[in-house]
Amino acid sequence: MYSTGMTKPTTLAIILAGGTGTRMGNPTPKQFLPLYGTNTAPQNTVLYHSINAFANHPAISHIAVVCHGDWFAQCHDVINTIQTTTPILPVITGGDTRQQSVYNGLLAVEHIAPDYVLIHDGARPHTPPDLIDRVTNALHKGADGVIPALPATDTLKTNTGNTITSTLNRDQIVHAQTPQGFAYTAILSAHQTAPPNLTDDASVLAQAGGTVQWVTGDPANIKITTPHDLQNNSETPMTTPQKIPRIGQGYDVHKFTDGDHVMLCGVKIPHTKAFTAHSDGDVALHALTDALYGAIAMGDIGRHFPPTDPQWQGADSAIFLQHAVDMVANMGGEIGNVDITIMCEQPKITPHAPTMQQRLSELMKIPTHKISIKATTTEKLGFTGRGEGIATTATVIVFVQGY
Ligand code: CTP
Ligand code: MG
Repeated sequence: MYSTGMTKPTTLAIILAGGTGTRMGNPTPKQFLPLYGTNTAPQNTVLYHSINAFANHPAISHIAVVCHGDWFAQCHDVINTIQTTTPILPVITGGDTRQQSVYNGLLAVEHIAPDYVLIHDGARPHTPPDLIDRVTNALHKGADGVIPALPATDTLKTNTGNTITSTLNRDQIVHAQTPQGFAYTAILSAHQTAPPNLTDDASVLAQAGGTVQWVTGDPANIKITTPHDLQNNSETPMTTPQKIPRIGQGYDVHKFTDGDHVMLCGVKIPHTKAFTAHSDGDVALHALTDALYGAIAMGDIGRHFPPTDPQWQGADSAIFLQHAVDMVANMGGEIGNVDITIMCEQPKITPHAPTMQQRLSELMKIPTHKISIKATTTEKLGFTGRGEGIATTATVIVFVQGY
């Protein structure tokens, strides 16, 4: 057990993506199928969501993904879209069975020698953070092995063919989920002595004499196994986390130079000045684009469109907005509403606001009543007050499923 003042233990999450999903019956392994709808972007795959549950989780120090050798390219695409400060180790090649894949994973992280490992099915995309806390907290209290599980609710029978042979005592049965947590050295040595084809790691530890505890799992934490599970995902509230709101804000400033118009919210506005900028200088679209990236924690405009890249010289800033809008859509997200404030003495914004709303509605594919455009002077104070440039803020809400 560790307490404040002691060094925080290292806990490595091994995510298993080495299977081929025979029961799903799709040529693409289930972990690379879209979780929501039909969008095949890496951010919408089952695996993305399974890994993302561990990314940035405070109890997790490293992530390692085990993948079938034929699917490395897809696995890299998924990993590369995850925004995290939690290190993700090079992808590990899986084995012929789940058990073999876990063993490969455990061996491949020997150089890290973590205190604990959490072993998780890459086909389980709905793992809430508090479930990870329950497993790691029980490990920190000294358990050899910990699994999240749910008590059985149906009456359970044994059978031989069509004949029921007995009724089990339901009070003694729980349904095992993942992530399953272990002291690293204990589970590594248990795997070295395990008979083949055990279907989880708790049974691997148990056969080596270890004691396994259980903590409360989560009904949403299902393992995607058959086509029914994916269909259910978009329909059944129990297996689908509700869309959650995420807020984003953006701020941008552009300086004036000589000229005869400015671009604001994608609309050309006659003015006695123009913007000094690498792109078309549309300060309002830039703030809005950053707000959208911010809402899905996907960096900022400079990361996606570096100002040092000559191809964006004079670019139509609608391209940037479109990219951010597409990223939100690729995550199954919906834009709730947008509120923009443009700060300048001149030009006057209000007469152009309806045209701006219309243009943003086209670019963002949301109705104009969800788009607010406001303007303010800064009482002749500061750089905007002196007419040296324009500043803009933007705030957005997006609704994103399970993210
Ligand atoms: N797994 C693995 N290596 C294997 C087999 C399975 O890493 N050789 C992983 C799967 O990718 C999945 C998890 O273990 O994330 C649970 O296994 P399962 O649900 O059985 O997945 P599949 O083996 O892919 O599916 P199926 O049994 O239907 O073929
Ligand atoms: Mg399997």
